[in-house]
Amino acid sequence: MKVTVSRKAHFNAAHRLYRPDWSFEKNDAVFGKCNNPNFHGHNYDLTVSVTGEIDPETGYVVDVKILKDFIKSEIEDAFDHKNLNVDVPEFKNLNPTAENIVVVIYDKLKAVLDSNLKLEVTLYETPRNFVTYSGL
Ligand code: NI
Repeated sequence: MKVTVSRKAHFNAAHRLYRPDWSFEKNDAVFGKCNNPNFHGHNYDLTVSVTGEIDPETGYVVDVKILKDFIKSEIEDAFDHKNLNVDVPEFKNLNPTAENIVVVIYDKLKAVLDSNLKLEVTLYETPRNFVTYSGL
């Protein structure tokens, strides 16, 4: 019997979508307003879902306080009020699209969670645009 436990989180961050090996014109054609050289911000919302067996002793799949603390230390402290391109080492050479951000978030949380737990992360860049990664 497996149960999924989810926790929502939030961070604000700036980014710019571009490839330094492309001309400004090509970046503009592909990334549009997101290629603004002066960066722009998003209010990112996050849902972290953890699936596993219920521990018969505690009745928990995962202690939500521990999950909350991991999200804070690994994601919020690293990304909140940061410029993703400039301040976050994972994006030094990786375009900070929602797709790439959700994979980085997944990898950071996967590294600290119990390996028996299945992880899925959904990242909302806007209320209508969101991406999901579960390690596939
Ligand atoms: Ni953007």
